[in-house]
Amino acid sequence: MSRTALLTGGAGYIGSHTAVVLLEAGWSVVIVDNLANSSPVAVERVAELAPGDLTFHQVDIRDTDALTKVFAERDIDAVVHFAGLKAVGESVEKPLEYHDINVGGTVSLLQAMRGAGVRDLVFSSSCTVYGDPSETPVTESARLGPTTNPYGRSKLYIEEMLRDLPVSEPGAWRIVNLRYFNPVGAHPSGRIGEDPDGIPNNLMPYVMQVAVGRLERIGVFGGDYDTADGTCIRDYIHVVDLAEGHLAALERLPTIDGCIAVNLGTGQGYSVLDVIRAASKAVGRELPYEIVDRRAGDITAVWSNPTHAREVLGWEATRGIEEMVADHWRWQSQNPNGYSS
Ligand code: NAD
Ligand code: WQD
Repeated sequence: MSRTALLTGGAGYIGSHTAVVLLEAGWSVVIVDNLANSSPVAVERVAELAPGDLTFHQVDIRDTDALTKVFAERDIDAVVHFAGLKAVGESVEKPLEYHDINVGGTVSLLQAMRGAGVRDLVFSSSCTVYGDPSETPVTESARLGPTTNPYGRSKLYIEEMLRDLPVSEPGAWRIVNLRYFNPVGAHPSGRIGEDPDGIPNNLMPYVMQVAVGRLERIGVFGGDYDTADGTCIRDYIHVVDLAEGHLAALERLPTIDGCIAVNLGTGQGYSVLDVIRAASKAVGRELPYEIVDRRAGDITAVWSNPTHAREVLGWEATRGIEEMVADHWRWQSQNPNGYSS
């Protein structure tokens, strides 16, 4: 019998790709999203890419009563919790909004889950919980924090809260905190992808908007870091690999005891200039860039140790940087203005 996953934030970038992978694997999918940072078109395209049992509810996760109604309508086996705000800079300006939606929204979701007797959860955490990491490549046992901004703190608070649950009800909760590194790329069809509002904060969408002519040139934040080419190094991971990591986590949940954390990264670091070079190749021309001032708070180099994911989830990333930029470019060039194209 098909199992059912409820995806909060399932209309968003990572959630929509995960919905496709779950539907293809035979799961029923219930999306709950208030569309604060996403489009209903994404949900339509998920249905087009992966026909199956998909339903959508436009609900704010802070509305516990509305969530309770969704749980009452369906037999939910597990929840994947993507919903939340994710812009680091904005979180510095609006800390209360971040804690209200990310932390408060998670409390509301957990109350609805407990009320419905659902205690299996996969949570969208982030490598940001490591702060400036005490080791690279980073393993899950690396020191947590100090986090460098309210967004990062909201993720760390949620992780800590989730670790309290199995202590309060031993044997009941099964929780996986997936700590994503830097998600990029898009579904190979070019039908779903990342659609940031306004000028992108993150590197890959910025690079692709330059490629499509929406922005003039890439500003590389600092060329004097202590790395081979002077630019920062990150662990970019293809969003479809990431989505498959969620499927693996859901499939393994019944064997998980309590609350665990797993890095989702490739284990391979690339510099900003590596990314621009790979993107230029995919696009077929040199993308213009200039070195500008460092961005406050940026870490020189961070990438994951992906061993734990392989051991615990039986999952590893298989898509390289060429595939990441080629797929991201297909999405951006076919949808120059995202879902409003
Ligand atoms: P996204 O903004 O595309 O998706 C988040 C979704 O949550 C959106 O569809 C939005 O409409 C929805 N949402 C926001 N507030 C809500 C609310 N109150 N009620 C219901 N829905 C709400 O972001 P994403 O990149 O897909 O990220 C998904 C999750 O992964 C987030 O929790 C994010 O913090 C985490 N994460 C993202 C990255 C990244 O670089 N993209 C890295 C690490 C972790
Ligand atoms: C990558 C590299 C920049 C834009 C953020 C969050 C983190 C996680 C992933 C959610 C850095 C450089 C960027 C630009 C640039 N999100 N850059 N010019 O900062 O590694 O991580 O997203 O959990 O929490 O902090 O990602 O894509 O912003 O930057 O030179 O216009 O690209 O300096 O070295 P980051 P990013």
